[in-house]
Amino acid sequence: MVKNPSPRNQSSSIILNKLKTFLPIDPSLPIFVSFVVALALVVSCVIYLENSKHALNGQPEGDLWGGFNGVGSDERVGFLEKEGEGCDLFKGEWVWDQSYPLYGERSCLFLDGGFRCSENGRPDDFYTKWRWQPSDCNLPRFHAKTMLEKLRNRRVVFVGDSIGRNQWESLLCMLSAGVLEKDSVYEVNGSPITKHTGFLVFKFRDYNCTVEYYRAPFLVLQSRPPAGVAEKVKTTLKLDQMDWTSLQWKAADVLVFNTGHWWNYEKTIRGGCYFQEGEEVKMEMSIESAYRKSLETLIDWLGREVNMSKSQVFLRTYSPVHFSRINAREPKDLRNIFSIFLRSCLLARHLIMLREQVFLSDLGGDWRTGGTCHMETLPEVGSSFVKFPSWKELRIVNEVLSAHSNESTVRKMNVLNVTHMSARRKDGHASLYYLGPKIGPAPLSKQDCSHWCLPGVPDAWNELLYALFLRRELPTLSQNSSTPHVPHELT
Ligand SMILES: *[C@@H]1O[C@H](CO)[C@@H](O)[C@H](O)[C@H]1NC(C)=O
Ligand SMILES: *[C@@H]1O[C@H](CO)[C@@H](O)[C@H](O)[C@H]1NC(C)=O
Ligand SMILES: *[C@@H]1O[C@H](CO)[C@@H](O)[C@H](O)[C@H]1NC(C)=O
Ligand SMILES: *[C@@H]1O[C@H](CO)[C@@H](O)[C@H](O)[C@H]1NC(C)=O
Ligand SMILES: *[C@@H]1O[C@H](CO)[C@@H](O)[C@H](O)[C@H]1NC(C)=O
Repeated sequence: MVKNPSPRNQSSSIILNKLKTFLPIDPSLPIFVSFVVALALVVSCVIYLENSKHALNGQPEGDLWGGFNGVGSDERVGFLEKEGEGCDLFKGEWVWDQSYPLYGERSCLFLDGGFRCSENGRPDDFYTKWRWQPSDCNLPRFHAKTMLEKLRNRRVVFVGDSIGRNQWESLLCMLSAGVLEKDSVYEVNGSPITKHTGFLVFKFRDYNCTVEYYRAPFLVLQSRPPAGVAEKVKTTLKLDQMDWTSLQWKAADVLVFNTGHWWNYEKTIRGGCYFQEGEEVKMEMSIESAYRKSLETLIDWLGREVNMSKSQVFLRTYSPVHFSRINAREPKDLRNIFSIFLRSCLLARHLIMLREQVFLSDLGGDWRTGGTCHMETLPEVGSSFVKFPSWKELRIVNEVLSAHSNESTVRKMNVLNVTHMSARRKDGHASLYYLGPKIGPAPLSKQDCSHWCLPGVPDAWNELLYALFLRRELPTLSQNSSTPHVPHELT
């Protein structure tokens, strides 16, 4: 049952190696004492993680370490079963699952250097081993071949910013893990995966299926301003028109949208990008109302241009960032023992796994000025401890969707409401490890605490996408043709 408690073995051998090399070189007492304390904490941390599965997850033992049989080994109903209808997939917990990740970083050819954290030097891999467990039902275990079969002769399109690209690459990896002949998956124009291409189309030859990404961080059209506007207006966002590439993807079978990270001062007004409606540039319009307008345009456009009975449309909500400062964080987190314990685990792991210089330099100025997340190696488990900020990006999406909740477009749309679940994954970001394997870790002051390592958090978003997607495909999936068709509509 307990298949492979490797973190313990791994930690012990690391500890032993460190002990051998550490002692003769630097016998300085304070460092040695903190080392011993750290050692004790790591050992107790591992023991704790092993013994408190039940407390952590409210799950039977065995499911945690031996989840190889998929995700349905407890009394929860399966999401795809009839009784699973209406289960809120986004309410749940991150649980440790030794059978994760779903693919290896090295075995996936379609990964941007920026997301290859482990190859880029990230020392821990805990962040790859958490599975999202909804509270009231079980997710179907992701099965690449099933999804590819369902996608035969179809197109999946992601439209959005670089976090959308993060999710797209995750899905490419998840799907290609089910393909033996790696050459049969390729970019149709031969373009490499690099950060700067406008769009990329990957084809799964044996399934005649494409998985595509279009970069459109605002979703609406950004282009030259009309004649005669103030000189500071360099570009405008046409809040009433979709991005010009929409012609290319409006007929796709699965559409996954996201937007949010670019709706701020730095990425708009400061760069001379203002908002336009019709012919009029609205110099005074707030970023918030512009964002709201763009979402309304998306909904109108979907209603006009997309056959929502044929295409499955997903809107992914804001993906939270985790730039934190040690000062801001300490008092809040000291409130409960549990959090102190996790924090100790985290420090202990780092003390042992990171090079000593890196650790010590954290105490310097960089730490206080730039936001950081590179010390985070554990998610927030136990949801009651998490105080979420209120993201204006999420609030606006919620407001727009509920204002339109009676429209059939919105009722047929799936919301991938990932904001809260991802907020608990401060451990999942690329942090220092986004520069590529040849360059090594970035300076501490230049961290990426918005994109996610792969394999990692976006895989969980795609498992949710998979579940919702299959749910709609249910009538054809079922062996029993008399199973009633339960259309899935999430508002
Ligand atoms: C391949 O899929 C596309 C849609 O993505 C479809 O138009 C085309 O007919 C398919 N080709 C074959 C040979 O089925
Ligand atoms: C929308 O798609 C469905 C299912 O493919 C099809 O039956 C229907 O005719 C389409 N509607 C329009 C307006 O094209
Ligand atoms: C997303 O989840 C949050 C927290 O559970 C909830 O408040 C919000 O209404 C949800 N939004 C949508 C669009 O489902
Ligand atoms: C939606 O429809 C219901 C019943 O038809 C109505 O009571 C409700 O006010 C409507 N909501 C909105 C936002 O239009
Ligand atoms: C299919 O489901 C119906 C109702 O749930 C049941 O009565 C019937 O026996 C099932 N048929 C098979 C072949 O499983």
